[in-house]
Amino acid sequence: MCGIVGYIGKDDTKDILLEGLQKLEYRGYDSAGIATLSGEELHVFKVKGRIAALREEVDPNVKATLGIGHTRWATHGAPSKENAHPHQSDSGRFTIVHNGVIENYNQIRKEYLGDVELKSETDTEIIVQLIELLHRKTDNTKEAFRQAVELLSGSYALALIDRRDEDTIYVAKNKSPLLVGLGDGFNMVVSDSMAGLQATNEFMELMDKEIVIVKREDVTVEKLDGTEVERESFTAEIDSMDIEKGTYPHFMLKEVDEQPFVIRKIIQEYQDEDDRIKLDPEVREAMKECDRIYIIAAGTSYHAGLVGKQFLEKMSGIPTEVHVASEFSYNMPLLSEKPLFVFISQSGETADSRSVLVQTKKLGHPALTLTNVPGSTLSREADYTLHLHAGPEIAVASTKAYTAQIAVLAILAVDTARAKGIELEFDPMQELGIAANAMEALTDQKEELENLTREYLSTTRNCFFIGRSIDHYVGVEGALKLKEISYIQAEGFAGGELKHGTIALIEEGTPVIALATQESVSPSIRGNVQEVEARGANTLTISMKGIEEEGDEFAIPKVHDLLTPLASVIPLQLIAYYAALHRDCDVDKPRNLAKSVTVE
Ligand code: F6R
Repeated sequence: MCGIVGYIGKDDTKDILLEGLQKLEYRGYDSAGIATLSGEELHVFKVKGRIAALREEVDPNVKATLGIGHTRWATHGAPSKENAHPHQSDSGRFTIVHNGVIENYNQIRKEYLGDVELKSETDTEIIVQLIELLHRKTDNTKEAFRQAVELLSGSYALALIDRRDEDTIYVAKNKSPLLVGLGDGFNMVVSDSMAGLQATNEFMELMDKEIVIVKREDVTVEKLDGTEVERESFTAEIDSMDIEKGTYPHFMLKEVDEQPFVIRKIIQEYQDEDDRIKLDPEVREAMKECDRIYIIAAGTSYHAGLVGKQFLEKMSGIPTEVHVASEFSYNMPLLSEKPLFVFISQSGETADSRSVLVQTKKLGHPALTLTNVPGSTLSREADYTLHLHAGPEIAVASTKAYTAQIAVLAILAVDTARAKGIELEFDPMQELGIAANAMEALTDQKEELENLTREYLSTTRNCFFIGRSIDHYVGVEGALKLKEISYIQAEGFAGGELKHGTIALIEEGTPVIALATQESVSPSIRGNVQEVEARGANTLTISMKGIEEEGDEFAIPKVHDLLTPLASVIPLQLIAYYAALHRDCDVDKPRNLAKSVTVE
């Protein structure tokens, strides 16, 4: 959450910072700001609102070749101009941008900054005021920065500039992501490579608690004790075109449409020339060796984990538990003798999941991360990684990462089953190919789905999703999509649970979307549809060709029973999309949210 861009080079920095911030807006968009430095002339521009508003605010006549910028998702202090970054020290000498949460900011304020009058409510201002105080004692910016970093606990990515030094950006991170972009005669600091791709595709990873000195021509990485560290750079594989909307009105719609291609890409990436599953042998061994799998994830990735549990138990015969990352530490289950932790995360940066990883690593348990961002924190820190190959997902609401997670989990489950000598009739690549075709056909049914959305959701304040077994897991995902982008209160329920309380919520006209793609539970869920209809609900049944019944409003093409989520989620994603659109909501950037949740 929150995005940082810094630039030091030969060109004017304003546009580079603004363009970079625009690419990072998915990380937070309640306020934004930049600071530029030329000689000792420092300019700070801040707004409450988005990068478009910041563009208006920035004085086009200001010229500088050094600058830092920030787009914010508020943690400490409401979204406002005062709380927007960059923040400055009292004398105005030091200016900082920060992503993360400083846990001991109150203690630092009391212990060190009793006399300082703070201008904002943020934990960030504490850091920059502390640096100024330490600078008074050391008269050395790098040393003051280092000492400040030593005192901080919590998560942070920091970029600091000193008004008396237009040749340096001081950088450090802990738990929050930050990269250095390397160029010819310039360098950048970015929360995500997407923000630097306009200028370079060469990046350097930073590790926690390092001090990084970024100059125009070079970058020095040091440990906190001053020892220099050699670090190789890497080339980011994404194309800057992958992060453009093209002719689509919203990233979400583009990403929904990309799903069949993502599944085909996964088939290609996970299959060798002899049509065998291609998987890191170490992952195969870890899966074979474990006696229980603990899936850890949040939000949509958690919902993919619920589907993954079905694959892992039904196909590979490994008992599997799925845990919401933020709850895991409070209710750590009794672990088996040989557990394997599987982290599912689009961004690879979710702080709740990372905190479980840190905890389970301390206990010595192996970890596998399934992520869309191979260089991400969860990927680096786990023992093994499986790449989702979904391409950059920009819309805050996750779509293609969810289906990619399900596809990779299916391949993993089949591979494990084969490694354990279990014979399956299920051919994953063939079935995924069929699912990809079904998904493509569904993305062509937008008009029909838009009409259904109009019919069922145009005036409602709430909506329920019901399903049984695997359909229930897709229902909770459909409910999450709808609530997060259209703000319609939506919940997903197991059909069988209705009579245990929830049915009390059904009133005349309440929309209920029922998923009925599983032959084995079809009679039961259809019974639930009758029950809610009898109480006035306006039901929309989504079934599957081959098992559909007269009166079903929508049917997905026939796919393998276990892979129905890949197809049945698409009408739900599109219904959420059109509901948000009809209500004039900001589809790609829903209120109060950010794409990458890097604070616990
Ligand atoms: C919902 C959504 C979130 C994420 C969750 C986990 O559309 O995108 O619920 O799924 O924040 O994020 P990752 O997968 O990056 O760990």
